[in-house]
Amino acid sequence: MKSKIQNRSDIELLVNTFYEKVRANKVLGYIFDDVAQIDWDNHLPQMYSFWASLLLGEHSFRGNPMVKHIKLSKMTPMTNVEFSEWLLLFNQTVDELFIGEKAEEAKIRAANIARLMLHKIESV
Ligand code: HEM
Repeated sequence: MKSKIQNRSDIELLVNTFYEKVRANKVLGYIFDDVAQIDWDNHLPQMYSFWASLLLGEHSFRGNPMVKHIKLSKMTPMTNVEFSEWLLLFNQTVDELFIGEKAEEAKIRAANIARLMLHKIESV
């Protein structure tokens, strides 16, 4: 049964499930594992904090997503194609696991941030 996003462990489930899909995805997986070669043990907790800050008001996120994604866009294409795929997987994950206001908020925030990132990337 689907539940509301209420606490840190809900955020961890959302993030873990989303990045499993991302890593298995043809359009996105290689960007994380081959281009950026990210350290997942580091990245996942960073993403828990990001989403817990946005949705639960945790104030635990310390990072600079805009700068990191602009840098990434110089190493690999980061176009509407990649962002649309990212959003599709994110929305699928949210809808698979959760219902309620915060679930809707998560999808809206993700879409707004993605739009802003793409806009910044296109204007540098
Ligand atoms: C085409 C879509 C995207 C790709 C391929 C992508 C890829 C990545 C990669 C490879 C990193 C690690 C960068 C590093 O540590 O150097 C990263 C970090 C991050 N991403 Fe994305 N991303 C995408 C879209 C998004 C969107 C739409 C959001 C927000 C809704 C987001 C939020 C973040 C955050 C918060 C971090 C951590 C930044 C930090 O540590 O300062 N990403 N992303």
